[in-house]
Amino acid sequence: MVAAMTAAARGGVTVRVPAKINLELIVGPRRADGYHDLSTVFHAVGLYDDITVTPASQWAVTLSGPYRHLVPETGDNLALKAARLLAQRAAAEAAADPEPAEEVEEPSRGPLRQVPSKPEEPQGIGPVHVHIAKEIPVAAGMAGGSADAAATLVACDALWQLNTDREVLDELAAELGSDVNFALTGGTAIGSGRGERVAPVLSRGRYHWVLAVAKEGLSTPAVFAECDRLRDDRGEHDIPDPQPSPDMMAALRGGDSHALGAALRNDLQEAALSLRPDLQEVLDAGLEYGALGGIVSGSGPTLAFLVDGPEGALDLAVALTASGVASDVKRAVGPAHGAHVLNAPAGT
Ligand code: C5P
Repeated sequence: MVAAMTAAARGGVTVRVPAKINLELIVGPRRADGYHDLSTVFHAVGLYDDITVTPASQWAVTLSGPYRHLVPETGDNLALKAARLLAQRAAAEAAADPEPAEEVEEPSRGPLRQVPSKPEEPQGIGPVHVHIAKEIPVAAGMAGGSADAAATLVACDALWQLNTDREVLDELAAELGSDVNFALTGGTAIGSGRGERVAPVLSRGRYHWVLAVAKEGLSTPAVFAECDRLRDDRGEHDIPDPQPSPDMMAALRGGDSHALGAALRNDLQEAALSLRPDLQEVLDAGLEYGALGGIVSGSGPTLAFLVDGPEGALDLAVALTASGVASDVKRAVGPAHGAHVLNAPAGT
């Protein structure tokens, strides 16, 4: 919050955005464009990155926090891509739809002349410095990069006072990555298509999670490719269209953490464990120490364990750390809100 207040004083905007886990991830066949159709249940958890955008003389990104060294501070950074994409879109819209010209009376020459009331490019849109205070683990299956992109869209929209339609933000989000739309939404939601089509799901209750973060990340494309390879090896060619499972829907409707623990499912888990067999020991340990369920989060390698409350979370976190199977263990509660502004930009 202090950082957000300082940012506001410098004319910046700070947006907070949560990490996600997937309560269910059903992977359909590989599509012609290389992606896979999915049916997933996204669940935002209270582990956040804070993104601050400030007007600057050139586009730049910096990071702080425990995972800062794992993220590029270059144009490849997805947050910077998001800022530029929104700027381009706003400039294109302004050029296509200029404000109506105002009629101004000129006393010396009598007749009226046309004066555009707005410059071609909306005022204030220009390079920003994006700062990411990074608490979400990187390449961990928790959509941290997507979260930063979503937060940057929201932050720049507020900074430039664009009031962009949600439909347009969703379009830009989908262009940036499959998980960016959900980071805008938060809560618990169903994802379909390649994950970018997000719809609400009837869900009750708050859930307590223990997250075991691995030292080294996993590449999402590599995990999807491994999933394809394992399916090919087994001769599985007739992969059904993915659908949400009735057990998961019932568990969420009832707010029943025991039923939810039993319904957790991730079709990428086998592939993640195949690439990183060491994760199996951590998964077994979490379940042995009393988790209601445990699952690889997204494409991994983070493991998410559901427990029955804050005390259970503390007990499991201590047990996993003490046993030496996991060194970076976090606790988080879900669902959490999607990307939201922490401070008001100056002048609004
Ligand atoms: O969309 P995003 O950039 O997050 O996806 C990263 C990679 O993950 C894709 O290039 C693709 O290899 C894989 N992927 C997939 N099917 C999806 C989502 C992602 O194969 N539905």
